[in-house]
Amino acid sequence: MCGIVGYIGKRDSQGILIDGLRKLEYRGYDSAGIAVFTGNGLEVRKSKGRLAVLEEKLGGEPLRGSVGIGHTRWATHGKPSDENSHPHTDNSHKFSVVHNGIIENYLDLKDELVAKGHKFVSETDTEVISHLVADEYDGDIVKAVQRAAKRMRGAFALGVLTEYEPDRLVAVRLASPLVIGIGNGENFIGSDIPAILEHTRDVYILNDGEMAVLKMNSVELMTIEGEIISKEIFHVDWDLVTAEKAGFDHFMLKEIYEQPKAYRDTMMGRISEDGRRVALKEIGMTLEEIRGIRKVQIVACGTAFHAGLVGKTVIEDLARIPVETDVASEYRYRSPIITPDTLVIVVSQSGETADTLAALREAKRNGARVMAITNVVGSSVAREADDVIITQAGPEIAVASTKAYTSQLIAFYLLGLYLAEKLETRDEKWIANVLTSMNQLPEQVESILDQANVLKQVAESISKHSNLFFIGRGVDFAVAQEGSLKLKEISYIHSEAYAAGELKHGTLALIEDGIPVIALITQEQLYEKTLSNIKEVKARGAHVLAVINAGHEGEVSKSVDEMFAIPRTLPLLAPALSVVPLQLIAYYASLALGHDVDKPRNLAKSVTVE
Ligand code: F6R
Repeated sequence: MCGIVGYIGKRDSQGILIDGLRKLEYRGYDSAGIAVFTGNGLEVRKSKGRLAVLEEKLGGEPLRGSVGIGHTRWATHGKPSDENSHPHTDNSHKFSVVHNGIIENYLDLKDELVAKGHKFVSETDTEVISHLVADEYDGDIVKAVQRAAKRMRGAFALGVLTEYEPDRLVAVRLASPLVIGIGNGENFIGSDIPAILEHTRDVYILNDGEMAVLKMNSVELMTIEGEIISKEIFHVDWDLVTAEKAGFDHFMLKEIYEQPKAYRDTMMGRISEDGRRVALKEIGMTLEEIRGIRKVQIVACGTAFHAGLVGKTVIEDLARIPVETDVASEYRYRSPIITPDTLVIVVSQSGETADTLAALREAKRNGARVMAITNVVGSSVAREADDVIITQAGPEIAVASTKAYTSQLIAFYLLGLYLAEKLETRDEKWIANVLTSMNQLPEQVESILDQANVLKQVAESISKHSNLFFIGRGVDFAVAQEGSLKLKEISYIHSEAYAAGELKHGTLALIEDGIPVIALITQEQLYEKTLSNIKEVKARGAHVLAVINAGHEGEVSKSVDEMFAIPRTLPLLAPALSVVPLQLIAYYASLALGHDVDKPRNLAKSVTVE
């Protein structure tokens, strides 16, 4: 999830590009760069680090020219480095590209281009695009971009310049956002509205498969196939702060709504074209090494730990390897039994959490192989682990983690299926069936998000209480723990998550008239058991909201006060759906109580102290 900006007009572009990138830094901040047509042709300046590092570089050697593109990066392919920063160029340095998205087939394209003599200097998928466009070029940049776009699979928003046609800036979109800003004698591109809002409020919002050819005094819109189209101008009346949140009131809400995309992005490029296998090229373990794993330990903190609880069930169920889970701050001090045939999986959104990093180091010291599931390429955890699965949720700004958690679940599903195939614990047909259901998850989440208003009402009544319980069995219990944490951290309402069958061993004493209980009941095989636990709390006066599978309303309605139905999926995948209503309940409860949703008291986004 990177930020892109572009300008074509009469003014000096450097300042416009840098200001635009500053507004986009929330989309990525591990490197930045610009390309500008100067008196010396197409010149590029870029560097690893925050935008300030680039600005310092430009301070000494400014780029003077009135056409340019810029980029702020959130790494997906290749660590943050000067070489991997955008804009990327081809070998002739006549073509330059900025890109937001993921090119799934970049390795195949790269092999083909290398065979033709192209030389690559970075590890990125984007560099392949600049070479591909150069390779396709025969005197018309628009046609070259169209041909290149048709050969790329994945998601992309691109800004493309060529020195051969300095009066044109080409922009194209497929599954990554891109807007065209319409000015007077000047035009703009931006991955988000904030990038260009200072200069214009009139924009075209490109849809998938559409492109724009910008000149100083015109914008031509067309499809990737070359068919000319027209579009209505969208007039933006947001202020800058609202625009940064894409019109949402808080980053947390925006990130909750970004989950369908985060699911798609985390799966992207990791499922074979026929949809029957998981391809995790990032895992370097040989088949022999995989067969040699005797035990898995999943270690993480907070929300990432809760993803690990689901991960335990997934790996045990799919790959039949025993899994232990540990909170990272406890792991080192319990003298865990770590052997060279132990696979330790650390899970961390930021990749910088001190306890998780210490656990990783302890595991490595004891000879274990360490795999990381993290959202940040080039983070400490990513650098020190032997194998890394990047979640591709994009930057998460709100302190309360949402899309990072759910994309960690997706990573665990992919890993579980990958191990199952290697260890032959599940057959191909079975794996293909799970993958089909996984592909439906993004749309199913969208259908839950469409019912946010119902959950807002639930949250408003919950916000009047000072205590509540979440209950569930199996993976429902794991999700209950995440739902409880989310509510606590942003609404400051006390809640506890209990394994539904465990209540009667003590906690049932706390159930009294009117106390809210959120019961998750999505696991068919545990259905009767959980229902009888629900009846236990109901009999003591609890007000029960049940999160159920669609189709079960009739049976459950007699035993509960309220229901929220999630779309049907496989039991193991249900957490990727059932957590979404709980996130929304936490969000709306915090809002009802007037708290600072994105920055809850006493908490920080990344905890770098032990
Ligand atoms: C809660 C939350 C925290 C983090 C925890 C680990 O919403 O975000 O519980 O999950 O601090 O952080 P990472 O995943 O960055 O290691």
